[in-house]
Amino acid sequence: MKFTKTIEVKNIFNKISYKYDFLNNLLSFGLHKLWKRRLVHLLKPLDGEDWADLCCGTGDLAFLISKRVSPRGSITGIDSAKNILKIAKQKSDLKKNKIIKWETKDVLGINDISKNYDGICMSYGLRNLHSVEEGIEKVFNLLKNKGRAGFLDFNHAKKNSLSNIFQKIYLRFIVVTISRLFNLGPEYEYIEKSIRNFPRKNQLIKIAKEVGFKKAEYRTIFFGQMGILILTK
Ligand SMILES: C[S@@+](CC[C@H](N)C(=O)[O-])C[C@H]1O[C@@H](n2cnc3c(N)ncnc32)[C@H](O)[C@@H]1O
Repeated sequence: MKFTKTIEVKNIFNKISYKYDFLNNLLSFGLHKLWKRRLVHLLKPLDGEDWADLCCGTGDLAFLISKRVSPRGSITGIDSAKNILKIAKQKSDLKKNKIIKWETKDVLGINDISKNYDGICMSYGLRNLHSVEEGIEKVFNLLKNKGRAGFLDFNHAKKNSLSNIFQKIYLRFIVVTISRLFNLGPEYEYIEKSIRNFPRKNQLIKIAKEVGFKKAEYRTIFFGQMGILILTK
């Protein structure tokens, strides 16, 4: 079951890669860029630090972080879907960005823990991994002592709250309808299901503490639609 989910997710992102940035901008009215900036602002990457953007997709976070850690630091963007990473690399070439390294890899399959990072970020990635617990544990193992990690994703609003109703309407009627116009309906229908199975704020904090993180904070943004989890090792 778990293996199948990994393959399915990879296929989804390989398939939507060519429209990923366009649909992200359209479906979030460009707001995803602000939310990603917020995450990076909270993580405060510094010049000289080594960072990783896991499940990097087309690399939005990696580009933001590269500006902060350069010229002395490094940032590696890692994703399992070859096609989406190809777009990240093309963007990187266009921007003449030499700081970011791109690696095609399953995050949960990274076994080289000699590579230690000062910081790790993930946006809309943790929810797609076949095990959120393993994902958080992997991040813990990849971080240096006192390293920090930040995760941005949809927030589970309280059942039947205004925020929850808005999220359902948005995902079912706006996201799915628009993505169907691009023949990507089934791929985007998957989002609502994946949010349903994603741990809530308190569960995420509990997992992080059990894995060994000393500090775990969660805050919601954009009227409770999105959540940011910040962890310190
Ligand atoms: C919703 S996209 C997010 C991309 C980007 N971080 C962003 O915020 O725009 C999720 C990404 O996670 C990647 N992904 C899913 N499971 C993965 C895994 N096990 N290892 C590496 N990447 C994975 C997908 O290929 C996809 O590019």
